[in-house]
Amino acid sequence: MINIKINGQSIQAESGQTILQAAQMHGIEVPTLCYHKDLNPTGNCRMCVVEVKGGRFLQAACVTPVWDGMEIQTHSEKVTKDRKLTLELMLANHPQDCITCDVSGECELQDLAYEYKASAPTWGSKGARYPVDSDPNPFIRVDMNRCILCRRCVSACAEIQVRDVWGVAKRGFDEVIVAGANVPMLEARCESCGQCVAYCPTGALSNKMNYGMARTHQVKKVTTTCSYCGVGCQFDLLVKNDKVIGVQSNPNAPVNGMALCVKGRYGYDYVHHPERLKKPRVRRYLLDGRPKTVDGQRSTVDGHWDWVEVEWDVALDIAAKKFMEIRDNFGADSLGFLTSAKCTNEENFLMNKLARQVVGTNNIDHCARL
Ligand code: FES
Repeated sequence: MINIKINGQSIQAESGQTILQAAQMHGIEVPTLCYHKDLNPTGNCRMCVVEVKGGRFLQAACVTPVWDGMEIQTHSEKVTKDRKLTLELMLANHPQDCITCDVSGECELQDLAYEYKASAPTWGSKGARYPVDSDPNPFIRVDMNRCILCRRCVSACAEIQVRDVWGVAKRGFDEVIVAGANVPMLEARCESCGQCVAYCPTGALSNKMNYGMARTHQVKKVTTTCSYCGVGCQFDLLVKNDKVIGVQSNPNAPVNGMALCVKGRYGYDYVHHPERLKKPRVRRYLLDGRPKTVDGQRSTVDGHWDWVEVEWDVALDIAAKKFMEIRDNFGADSLGFLTSAKCTNEENFLMNKLARQVVGTNNIDHCARL
């Protein structure tokens, strides 16, 4: 441990920590934009600058390590003025369309501009510099006019999803984030996981499926566990008027953090799909739409087999009866049980009990062995 001072307060920091980490450890707030705790710091945006005693320049707190005896000011007049200027430079190339922007209310640039009373300078660029909704990706909406070049998308894609879809092209005023060699995202190996969207601090990358469907304050967030596989990823469902309209990463998810796969993040439209099965179905022989069976066997009357919705206890009774019939007539080993990675461990354990102890067979396997 080493001794440093932040804003006159003596604190201990771990050797090798950055100023930002030391400050955060002691509850001292330093604003950031390009920094995210999940990603390697890049020191791009200069929002986190602080004044270090004896230093000639302001230092980016997210990439500057502490040393013993260091004295730091996080909110001096010089620092505050510098941050405001940085924000104004970003806003100079940023559309002033917060009123219709989907991420308004959750935009980190907007929050900081409000805090530092920064607005777009009159000499800023006029009009869109890039096409809006410029990529055909079915899930991810790209609007590089709103990009602040923080490169979080680049880091998230490279470090979390390890796909390296995003990169930086050109330099200076023309610098821009591109997929691959400036090709559509899917051509640049994108697998539509949406990690870049989750880490984007502005509306440059957003979700196509629910774009324009709700403002942040109109949405209730409900934390849940993904039902697609047994990994147990958590995320927040975005619910508006009792309808699920989207999925958002929950940074506190214990298994996956902010990461989600394409199914977890974008495969939620089955929830309110009109063809979704909500009750069990059994096969019945129908004639003119009405059941026509003799003990479940096809009758001689002309009709057809079809699926009929029944209550759970009816379906379970039929399944149990069939199990017992087969076991009694052909032996327990004529039955086999195949479980699923979509079930929880507990459900798989219960299936094991059902097969071995209730039915009496060791014929049980799991789809994940494939
Ligand atoms: Fe430190 Fe961007 S947050 S430079």
